[in-house]
Amino acid sequence: MLAFQLLGALASAALVSSVPLVARTCDTSDAVMDLPSGQTALVSPTTAPLYVLLGVGIQNYSCSSTTSTYTSIGAVASLFDISCLIDSSDFASIQTTAFDIWNAAPSGTAASSIGSQVSAPDLLGFHYFVTSPSGTGISPEWDFTSTTGDSSSYVIGAKVGDIAAPTDSATNVDWLALNSAQGSLASKIFRIDTVKGQPPTSCVAGSDPISVKYTAKYYLY
Ligand SMILES: *[C@@H]1O[C@H](CO)[C@@H](O)[C@H](O)[C@H]1NC(C)=O
Repeated sequence: MLAFQLLGALASAALVSSVPLVARTCDTSDAVMDLPSGQTALVSPTTAPLYVLLGVGIQNYSCSSTTSTYTSIGAVASLFDISCLIDSSDFASIQTTAFDIWNAAPSGTAASSIGSQVSAPDLLGFHYFVTSPSGTGISPEWDFTSTTGDSSSYVIGAKVGDIAAPTDSATNVDWLALNSAQGSLASKIFRIDTVKGQPPTSCVAGSDPISVKYTAKYYLY
């Protein structure tokens, strides 16, 4: 009987853990994106974000053989929950703190290991590029399916707004607004507070693709 009850308890614990394991997310109602004034390309929704994320990863570029400049061919990033840090004094600069650790990390270090070093241990998912829903070109995806176990918890974005980073735009990638083109994780995505990720201004025609480390905040609405 005792063994039976124990088995029952184990079975229900297993059931609970097979329910979507949505990682801890704190209240985001205080979260407001700090967007530059004097521009209309990025307009904050009036609702609270669903997710406030730190992205740590790389931007990939290939060298055009005709223009000897780099062209974006995608990105790969780990996405950490930073909702619980919104009211912390570290929040404003967490992307810089994370970048410095990521940049100094030995080659082979996984981006997924950086969050725990900036008090953001909860890895909610990954950002990468996939074939566009239209069938032509590539589009960015934010994918939480591996942590939620829910095959619908992803979003593929279509860019609707793009501004140069307000500081050091030659080295920091643009700030972006995207709408959902597919998936139900969010209807709008913003990339802001970017650190690095831009390629060199020119390349030697025929040279290999490069990966440039970056961090950013992503707000999903
Ligand atoms: C980006 O480059 C890395 C190697 O640095 C590679 O593992 C990854 O698959 C590339 N992703 C894209 C989208 O090009």
